[in-house]
Amino acid sequence: MRIILFLLLAAALNLPAQEVPPPLTEYLGREIAQTMHWQGADWLMRRVREDEEAPTKMRKELNVKPGMTVCDMGCGNGFHTLPLAEMVGENGKVLAVDVQPEMIEMLKKRIAAKGLKNIVPINGLYHDPKLPPDSCDMILLVDVYHEFSHPVQMLASMRAALKPDGLLVLVEFRAEDESVPIKPAHKMSKAQIHKEMNANGFTLKREYDELPWQHLMFFGKGEAK
Ligand SMILES: C[S@@+](CC[C@H](N)C(=O)[O-])C[C@H]1O[C@@H](n2cnc3c(N)ncnc32)[C@H](O)[C@@H]1O
Repeated sequence: MRIILFLLLAAALNLPAQEVPPPLTEYLGREIAQTMHWQGADWLMRRVREDEEAPTKMRKELNVKPGMTVCDMGCGNGFHTLPLAEMVGENGKVLAVDVQPEMIEMLKKRIAAKGLKNIVPINGLYHDPKLPPDSCDMILLVDVYHEFSHPVQMLASMRAALKPDGLLVLVEFRAEDESVPIKPAHKMSKAQIHKEMNANGFTLKREYDELPWQHLMFFGKGEAK
């Protein structure tokens, strides 16, 4: 199914199929989860999310400062994008990337309703987020990384898009914790996260272990592999 989707994508982009790297179903021993469909976007805005995931506490822990450029990678319909825009202020910018145009359209409606000027919506590709090089102070991925069908290409592009001291921030449901009521393919263990980040030139800088359901891990650029 994924192969067919990618051949269609290649055709739509007028690219020879061999130029779109094949999607993976497994990476370094981990099953890659299916992309969450845009028709389920209401779930991202559920009222109980604040109690379940403590997103306000998570965003505070990011230490985002006014004037920063922050990427909300896999932004969905913008649950985190709009609060991040407030945190970076009018001199900062939020680059909001998603592969599903329907998610980006929902985000645009929310931006227009609030009259915000500091969010740049980007229709990314599964293997290319279309981020400018050396542009981001932080790239935040909330419940997104485990869905990447092209983790190696995505990590290389995000590494190039980060400024030298920029941080890649992963928020992933804890695989070690059976009480977190999320399907196994949508969870990750710390050990697996380390394995995949280290293999792609990222090293852990900081972590925060006080969220109810998720790991919050900050990675900087380590040695290029
Ligand atoms: C579970 S949703 C999370 C949305 C948002 N981060 C949130 O916390 O509300 C995962 C999102 O990642 C997006 N996604 C999956 N693969 C992607 C990729 N390679 N590049 C950008 N977005 C991607 C999906 O389209 C989906 O909107």
